[in-house]
Amino acid sequence: SSVTIPPPACMLRPLEVPFRYLFGPGPSNVPPRILAAGGRPIIGHMHSEMFGIMNDIKKGIQYAFQTSNNMTLAMSGSGHTAMECAVFNIVEPGESVLVAINGIWGERVAEIAERMGMKLIIKIMPAHSFVILHILQALAKYKPVLFFLTHGESSAGLVHPMDGVGDICHKYNCLLLVDSVASLGAAPLLMDQQNIDILYTGSQKALNAPPGTAPVSFSERACHKMFNRKTKPVSYLLDMTHLSNYWGNDGKPERIYHHTGPVSGFFALRESLAILAEMGLENSWSHHTEIAEYLWKGLEDLGLKLFIKDKDLRLPSVTTIAIPEGYDWKELLAYIMKHHRIEFTGGLGPSVGMVLRIGLMGYNCNKANAAMVLAALEDALKQCRKSKA
Ligand code: GLV
Repeated sequence: SSVTIPPPACMLRPLEVPFRYLFGPGPSNVPPRILAAGGRPIIGHMHSEMFGIMNDIKKGIQYAFQTSNNMTLAMSGSGHTAMECAVFNIVEPGESVLVAINGIWGERVAEIAERMGMKLIIKIMPAHSFVILHILQALAKYKPVLFFLTHGESSAGLVHPMDGVGDICHKYNCLLLVDSVASLGAAPLLMDQQNIDILYTGSQKALNAPPGTAPVSFSERACHKMFNRKTKPVSYLLDMTHLSNYWGNDGKPERIYHHTGPVSGFFALRESLAILAEMGLENSWSHHTEIAEYLWKGLEDLGLKLFIKDKDLRLPSVTTIAIPEGYDWKELLAYIMKHHRIEFTGGLGPSVGMVLRIGLMGYNCNKANAAMVLAALEDALKQCRKSKA
Protein backbone atom coordinates (compact mmCIF):
# COMPACT_ATOMS: atom_id res chain seq x y z
CA SER A 1 0.00 0.00 0.00
CA SER A 2 1.31 3.43 -0.90
CA VAL A 3 0.11 6.99 -0.86
CA THR A 4 -1.81 7.85 -4.04
CA ILE A 5 -2.94 11.37 -3.20
CA PRO A 6 -0.01 13.82 -3.43
CA PRO A 7 0.45 16.69 -0.98
CA PRO A 8 -1.80 19.51 -2.21
CA ALA A 9 0.07 22.43 -3.81
CA CYS A 10 -1.68 24.94 -1.53
CA MET A 11 -0.24 23.18 1.51
CA LEU A 12 3.25 23.72 0.18
CA ARG A 13 2.75 27.48 0.08
CA PRO A 14 2.99 29.63 3.21
CA LEU A 15 -0.15 30.79 5.01
CA GLU A 16 -1.25 34.22 3.84
CA VAL A 17 -3.62 36.37 5.87
CA PRO A 18 -4.38 39.88 4.61
CA PHE A 19 -4.62 42.84 6.96
CA ARG A 20 -8.21 44.00 7.45
CA TYR A 21 -9.88 46.63 9.56
CA LEU A 22 -12.64 44.55 11.09
CA PHE A 23 -15.26 47.26 11.54
CA GLY A 24 -18.23 44.97 11.04
CA PRO A 25 -20.28 43.20 13.71
CA GLY A 26 -17.41 40.87 14.58
CA PRO A 27 -14.96 39.37 14.86
CA SER A 28 -13.15 42.58 15.72
CA ASN A 29 -9.41 43.13 15.48
CA VAL A 30 -7.45 41.41 18.23
CA PRO A 31 -4.91 43.66 19.99
CA PRO A 32 -1.26 42.50 20.13
CA ARG A 33 -1.45 41.78 23.87
CA ILE A 34 -4.28 39.28 23.38
CA LEU A 35 -2.66 37.76 20.26
CA ALA A 36 0.53 37.31 22.28
CA ALA A 37 -1.38 35.60 25.10
CA GLY A 38 -2.93 33.21 22.58
CA GLY A 39 0.52 32.54 21.13
CA ARG A 40 2.04 31.36 24.43
CA PRO A 41 3.22 27.75 24.49
CA ILE A 42 0.31 25.52 25.33
CA ILE A 43 0.06 23.32 28.38
CA GLY A 44 -2.20 20.34 28.95
CA HIS A 45 -5.90 21.02 29.36
CA MET A 46 -5.85 19.03 32.63
CA HIS A 47 -2.71 20.59 34.15
CA SER A 48 -3.16 22.29 37.50
CA GLU A 49 -1.83 25.58 36.02
CA MET A 50 -4.53 25.37 33.35
CA PHE A 51 -7.17 24.93 36.04
CA GLY A 52 -5.70 28.03 37.70
CA ILE A 53 -6.11 29.96 34.43
CA MET A 54 -9.68 28.67 34.09
CA ASN A 55 -10.38 29.83 37.65
CA ASP A 56 -9.10 33.29 36.66
CA ILE A 57 -11.36 33.26 33.59
CA LYS A 58 -14.31 32.41 35.82
CA LYS A 59 -13.53 35.43 38.04
CA GLY A 60 -13.11 37.63 34.96
CA ILE A 61 -16.51 36.53 33.61
CA GLN A 62 -18.16 37.08 37.00
CA TYR A 63 -16.88 40.66 36.86
CA ALA A 64 -17.86 41.22 33.21
CA PHE A 65 -21.35 39.80 33.85
CA GLN A 66 -21.66 41.36 37.33
CA THR A 67 -22.63 38.08 38.90
CA SER A 68 -21.58 36.01 41.86
CA ASN A 69 -22.93 32.81 40.25
CA ASN A 70 -20.72 29.83 41.01
CA MET A 71 -21.85 28.19 37.75
CA THR A 72 -19.80 30.48 35.55
CA LEU A 73 -17.49 29.16 32.82
CA ALA A 74 -16.45 29.52 29.20
CA MET A 75 -17.72 27.23 26.51
CA SER A 76 -15.36 25.63 24.01
CA GLY A 77 -17.04 27.15 20.97
CA SER A 78 -18.65 30.33 19.75
CA GLY A 79 -21.55 32.20 21.34
CA HIS A 80 -23.80 29.85 19.45
CA THR A 81 -22.44 26.95 21.49
CA ALA A 82 -23.46 28.75 24.68
CA MET A 83 -26.91 29.40 23.21
CA GLU A 84 -27.42 25.70 22.47
CA CYS A 85 -25.92 24.71 25.82
CA ALA A 86 -28.43 26.88 27.66
CA VAL A 87 -31.46 25.58 25.77
CA PHE A 88 -30.32 21.92 25.81
CA ASN A 89 -29.65 21.91 29.56
CA ILE A 90 -32.58 23.93 30.83
CA VAL A 91 -35.51 22.67 28.79
CA GLU A 92 -36.86 19.12 28.59
CA PRO A 93 -38.87 17.78 25.66
CA GLY A 94 -42.49 18.83 25.88
CA GLU A 95 -41.80 21.91 27.98
CA SER A 96 -42.58 25.36 26.61
CA VAL A 97 -40.13 28.05 25.57
CA LEU A 98 -41.07 31.65 24.87
CA VAL A 99 -38.81 33.41 22.38
CA ALA A 100 -38.73 37.12 21.64
CA ILE A 101 -37.67 37.59 18.04
CA ASN A 102 -36.52 41.00 16.91
CA GLY A 103 -33.68 39.82 14.73
CA ILE A 104 -31.68 36.72 13.89
CA TRP A 105 -30.77 35.49 17.38
CA GLY A 106 -34.34 34.91 18.47
CA GLU A 107 -34.92 33.10 15.17
CA ARG A 108 -32.00 30.81 15.98
CA VAL A 109 -33.19 29.96 19.48
CA ALA A 110 -36.65 29.27 18.09
CA GLU A 111 -35.19 26.86 15.56
CA ILE A 112 -33.06 25.09 18.19
CA ALA A 113 -36.09 24.69 20.46
CA GLU A 114 -38.21 23.46 17.57
CA ARG A 115 -35.62 20.84 16.60
CA MET A 116 -35.60 19.69 20.21
CA GLY A 117 -39.34 19.06 20.18
CA MET A 118 -40.02 21.79 22.69
CA LYS A 119 -43.32 23.59 22.66
CA LEU A 120 -42.50 26.88 21.14
CA ILE A 121 -44.17 30.20 21.52
CA ILE A 122 -42.70 33.03 19.55
CA LYS A 123 -43.25 36.73 19.61
CA ILE A 124 -42.03 38.57 16.55
CA MET A 125 -41.31 42.29 16.40
CA PRO A 126 -38.63 42.95 13.79
CA ALA A 127 -36.11 45.56 14.95
CA HIS A 128 -38.27 46.63 17.89
CA SER A 129 -38.13 46.32 21.63
CA PHE A 130 -40.77 44.37 23.50
CA VAL A 131 -43.06 46.03 26.01
CA ILE A 132 -42.94 44.56 29.52
CA LEU A 133 -46.73 44.25 29.61
CA HIS A 134 -46.73 42.10 26.47
CA ILE A 135 -44.02 39.84 27.85
CA LEU A 136 -46.00 39.51 31.07
CA GLN A 137 -49.19 38.60 29.20
CA ALA A 138 -47.35 35.94 27.19
CA LEU A 139 -45.77 34.48 30.34
CA ALA A 140 -49.15 34.32 32.05
CA LYS A 141 -50.83 32.74 29.03
CA TYR A 142 -48.24 30.16 27.94
CA LYS A 143 -46.37 29.37 31.19
CA PRO A 144 -43.01 28.72 29.54
CA VAL A 145 -40.07 27.37 31.56
CA LEU A 146 -37.66 29.63 29.65
CA PHE A 147 -37.91 33.08 28.10
CA PHE A 148 -35.24 34.14 25.58
CA LEU A 149 -34.39 37.74 24.89
CA THR A 150 -31.43 39.25 23.00
CA HIS A 151 -29.75 42.16 24.77
CA GLY A 152 -27.61 43.26 21.82
CA GLU A 153 -29.44 42.35 18.61
CA SER A 154 -26.59 42.76 16.13
CA SER A 155 -28.76 42.13 13.07
CA ALA A 156 -30.97 45.11 13.92
CA GLY A 157 -28.45 47.25 15.82
CA LEU A 158 -30.74 47.29 18.82
CA VAL A 159 -30.00 47.13 22.54
CA HIS A 160 -32.96 45.82 24.50
CA PRO A 161 -33.94 47.35 27.87
CA MET A 162 -33.50 44.69 30.58
CA ASP A 163 -34.92 46.29 33.72
CA GLY A 164 -37.96 44.46 35.05
CA VAL A 165 -37.82 41.55 32.59
CA GLY A 166 -36.20 39.13 35.07
CA ASP A 167 -38.66 40.10 37.79
CA ILE A 168 -41.71 39.24 35.74
CA CYS A 169 -40.14 35.99 34.53
CA HIS A 170 -39.60 34.92 38.13
CA LYS A 171 -43.14 35.92 39.03
CA TYR A 172 -44.30 33.33 36.48
CA ASN A 173 -41.70 30.75 37.50
CA CYS A 174 -39.86 31.13 34.22
CA LEU A 175 -36.10 31.40 33.72
CA LEU A 176 -34.67 34.32 31.74
CA LEU A 177 -32.03 33.53 29.09
CA VAL A 178 -30.21 36.52 27.61
CA ASP A 179 -27.84 36.77 24.63
CA SER A 180 -25.22 39.48 25.11
CA VAL A 181 -22.79 38.39 22.38
CA ALA A 182 -22.81 41.77 20.64
CA SER A 183 -23.35 43.96 23.71
CA LEU A 184 -21.15 42.70 26.54
CA GLY A 185 -18.66 45.35 27.59
CA ALA A 186 -20.29 47.92 25.31
CA ALA A 187 -23.73 48.45 26.87
CA PRO A 188 -24.69 48.25 30.57
CA LEU A 189 -25.81 44.83 31.74
CA LEU A 190 -25.95 43.60 35.33
CA MET A 191 -26.73 39.89 35.51
CA ASP A 192 -27.54 39.58 39.22
CA GLN A 193 -29.22 42.94 39.70
CA GLN A 194 -31.35 42.42 36.58
CA ASN A 195 -32.33 38.90 37.65
CA ILE A 196 -30.99 37.22 34.53
CA ASP A 197 -30.82 33.43 34.97
CA ILE A 198 -28.59 32.49 32.09
CA LEU A 199 -26.33 34.94 30.31
CA TYR A 200 -23.83 34.25 27.57
CA THR A 201 -21.53 36.19 25.29
CA GLY A 202 -18.84 35.59 22.69
CA SER A 203 -15.11 36.23 22.80
CA GLN A 204 -14.79 38.03 19.47
CA LYS A 205 -16.75 41.25 19.86
CA ALA A 206 -16.03 43.93 22.52
CA LEU A 207 -13.79 41.44 24.35
CA ASN A 208 -11.49 41.38 21.28
CA ALA A 209 -10.33 37.80 21.73
CA PRO A 210 -10.26 35.47 18.72
CA PRO A 211 -13.57 33.70 17.99
CA GLY A 212 -14.01 30.30 19.61
CA THR A 213 -14.76 30.69 23.32
CA ALA A 214 -17.99 31.82 24.95
CA PRO A 215 -18.49 32.97 28.54
CA VAL A 216 -21.73 31.74 30.13
CA SER A 217 -23.22 31.84 33.61
CA PHE A 218 -26.18 30.13 35.29
CA SER A 219 -28.07 31.37 38.37
CA GLU A 220 -28.98 29.13 41.32
CA ARG A 221 -32.51 28.83 39.93
CA ALA A 222 -31.18 27.78 36.55
CA CYS A 223 -28.89 25.23 38.22
CA HIS A 224 -31.80 23.85 40.22
CA LYS A 225 -33.79 23.30 37.03
CA MET A 226 -30.97 21.83 34.95
CA PHE A 227 -29.58 19.53 37.62
CA ASN A 228 -33.01 18.09 38.52
CA ARG A 229 -34.02 16.95 35.07
CA LYS A 230 -35.82 13.70 34.35
CA THR A 231 -34.05 13.27 31.01
CA LYS A 232 -30.42 13.77 30.04
CA PRO A 233 -29.70 16.74 27.76
CA VAL A 234 -29.43 15.67 24.14
CA SER A 235 -25.80 16.81 23.77
CA TYR A 236 -22.97 15.04 25.57
CA LEU A 237 -20.48 17.77 24.70
CA LEU A 238 -22.72 20.51 26.09
CA ASP A 239 -23.99 18.62 29.14
CA MET A 240 -23.55 20.98 32.09
CA THR A 241 -23.09 18.06 34.51
CA HIS A 242 -19.79 17.39 32.76
CA LEU A 243 -18.89 21.00 32.01
CA SER A 244 -19.43 22.08 35.61
CA ASN A 245 -16.93 19.41 36.68
CA TYR A 246 -14.44 20.45 33.96
CA TRP A 247 -14.59 24.00 35.29
CA GLY A 248 -14.34 22.95 38.94
CA ASN A 249 -17.82 24.26 39.72
CA ASP A 250 -19.46 21.08 41.02
CA GLY A 251 -17.64 20.90 44.37
CA LYS A 252 -16.11 17.50 43.53
CA PRO A 253 -12.44 17.10 44.50
CA GLU A 254 -11.39 15.80 41.10
CA ARG A 255 -11.88 17.02 37.54
CA ILE A 256 -12.58 14.15 35.17
CA TYR A 257 -11.67 14.31 31.47
CA HIS A 258 -14.65 15.39 29.37
CA HIS A 259 -13.29 17.11 26.26
CA THR A 260 -10.08 18.96 25.36
CA GLY A 261 -10.78 22.67 25.69
CA PRO A 262 -9.18 25.27 23.37
CA VAL A 263 -6.13 25.98 25.54
CA SER A 264 -4.80 28.89 23.42
CA GLY A 265 -8.32 30.30 23.14
CA PHE A 266 -8.60 30.28 26.92
CA PHE A 267 -5.25 32.09 27.29
CA ALA A 268 -6.53 34.78 24.92
CA LEU A 269 -9.89 34.98 26.66
CA ARG A 270 -8.18 35.41 30.03
CA GLU A 271 -6.15 38.32 28.63
CA SER A 272 -9.23 39.98 27.14
CA LEU A 273 -11.07 39.72 30.46
CA ALA A 274 -7.98 41.15 32.20
CA ILE A 275 -8.03 44.17 29.87
CA LEU A 276 -11.72 44.74 30.64
CA ALA A 277 -11.04 44.47 34.38
CA GLU A 278 -8.18 46.98 34.11
CA MET A 279 -10.30 49.44 32.14
CA GLY A 280 -13.38 48.97 34.30
CA LEU A 281 -16.83 48.08 33.01
CA GLU A 282 -18.33 51.52 33.50
CA ASN A 283 -15.47 53.14 31.59
CA SER A 284 -15.90 50.62 28.82
CA TRP A 285 -19.65 51.31 28.58
CA SER A 286 -19.28 55.10 28.56
CA HIS A 287 -16.40 54.92 26.05
CA HIS A 288 -18.51 52.85 23.61
CA THR A 289 -21.40 55.30 23.97
CA GLU A 290 -19.17 58.30 23.37
CA ILE A 291 -17.62 56.87 20.20
CA ALA A 292 -20.97 55.59 18.95
CA GLU A 293 -22.50 59.06 19.36
CA TYR A 294 -19.60 60.58 17.40
CA LEU A 295 -20.13 57.98 14.67
CA TRP A 296 -23.93 58.47 14.56
CA LYS A 297 -23.53 62.23 14.20
CA GLY A 298 -20.99 61.78 11.41
CA LEU A 299 -23.24 59.31 9.59
CA GLU A 300 -26.17 61.72 9.76
CA ASP A 301 -23.92 64.53 8.52
CA LEU A 302 -23.20 62.35 5.47
CA GLY A 303 -26.95 62.23 4.87
CA LEU A 304 -27.29 58.61 5.98
CA LYS A 305 -30.27 57.37 7.98
CA LEU A 306 -29.78 55.35 11.12
CA PHE A 307 -31.98 52.26 11.11
CA ILE A 308 -32.90 52.44 14.81
CA LYS A 309 -34.59 55.78 15.26
CA ASP A 310 -34.77 55.84 19.06
CA LYS A 311 -31.29 56.72 20.31
CA ASP A 312 -31.83 54.91 23.62
CA LEU A 313 -32.42 51.65 21.72
CA ARG A 314 -29.30 51.91 19.56
CA LEU A 315 -26.61 49.36 20.25
CA PRO A 316 -23.35 51.27 20.85
CA SER A 317 -21.20 48.42 19.49
CA VAL A 318 -23.01 47.74 16.21
CA THR A 319 -24.63 50.56 14.25
CA THR A 320 -27.13 49.84 11.50
CA ILE A 321 -27.63 52.26 8.63
CA ALA A 322 -30.56 52.06 6.25
CA ILE A 323 -29.19 51.30 2.78
CA PRO A 324 -29.12 54.69 1.05
CA GLU A 325 -31.35 55.06 -1.98
CA GLY A 326 -29.63 54.80 -5.35
CA TYR A 327 -26.94 52.40 -4.11
CA ASP A 328 -26.32 48.69 -4.30
CA TRP A 329 -25.27 47.63 -0.79
CA LYS A 330 -23.05 44.81 -2.00
CA GLU A 331 -21.19 47.21 -4.24
CA LEU A 332 -20.67 49.67 -1.37
CA LEU A 333 -19.24 46.91 0.83
CA ALA A 334 -16.98 45.61 -1.94
CA TYR A 335 -15.73 49.10 -2.75
CA ILE A 336 -14.90 49.84 0.88
CA MET A 337 -13.12 46.52 1.29
CA LYS A 338 -11.12 46.98 -1.91
CA HIS A 339 -10.13 50.61 -1.46
CA HIS A 340 -10.03 51.01 2.31
CA ARG A 341 -9.37 47.46 3.55
CA ILE A 342 -12.33 47.93 5.86
CA GLU A 343 -14.94 45.30 6.55
CA PHE A 344 -18.49 46.48 7.13
CA THR A 345 -21.29 43.99 6.55
CA GLY A 346 -24.79 43.92 5.21
CA GLY A 347 -27.76 42.79 7.24
CA LEU A 348 -28.16 39.36 8.79
CA GLY A 349 -31.25 37.15 8.73
CA PRO A 350 -34.30 39.43 8.67
CA SER A 351 -32.23 42.58 8.07
CA VAL A 352 -30.50 41.36 4.87
CA GLY A 353 -30.96 43.94 2.12
CA MET A 354 -32.18 46.53 4.63
CA VAL A 355 -29.05 47.72 6.40
CA LEU A 356 -25.30 48.16 6.43
CA ARG A 357 -23.68 47.30 9.75
CA ILE A 358 -20.69 49.00 11.32
CA GLY A 359 -19.08 47.71 14.48
CA LEU A 360 -16.52 49.53 16.60
CA MET A 361 -15.93 47.25 19.54
CA GLY A 362 -13.41 47.23 22.37
CA TYR A 363 -9.94 47.78 20.93
CA ASN A 364 -11.44 49.02 17.65
CA CYS A 365 -13.62 51.55 19.42
CA ASN A 366 -11.89 54.92 19.15
CA LYS A 367 -12.34 58.27 17.40
CA ALA A 368 -9.60 57.65 14.82
CA ASN A 369 -11.33 54.47 13.65
CA ALA A 370 -14.74 56.19 13.63
CA ALA A 371 -13.21 58.93 11.47
CA MET A 372 -11.78 56.28 9.15
CA VAL A 373 -15.25 54.69 8.87
CA LEU A 374 -16.79 58.03 7.96
CA ALA A 375 -14.10 58.87 5.39
CA ALA A 376 -14.48 55.46 3.74
CA LEU A 377 -18.25 55.84 3.56
CA GLU A 378 -18.01 59.36 2.19
CA ASP A 379 -15.69 58.13 -0.54
CA ALA A 380 -17.89 55.12 -1.34
CA LEU A 381 -21.02 57.28 -1.51
CA LYS A 382 -19.29 59.45 -4.12
CA GLN A 383 -17.95 56.55 -6.16
CA CYS A 384 -20.77 54.01 -6.08
CA ARG A 385 -23.89 56.04 -6.87
CA LYS A 386 -25.93 54.41 -9.61
CA SER A 387 -26.56 56.81 -12.48
CA LYS A 388 -30.29 57.36 -12.87
CA ALA A 389 -31.35 55.66 -16.11
C1 GLV B 1 -22.68 38.05 13.95
O1 GLV B 1 -22.58 37.90 15.09
C2 GLV B 1 -23.27 39.16 13.31
O2 GLV B 1 -24.00 39.92 13.94
O3 GLV B 1 -23.02 39.30 12.10
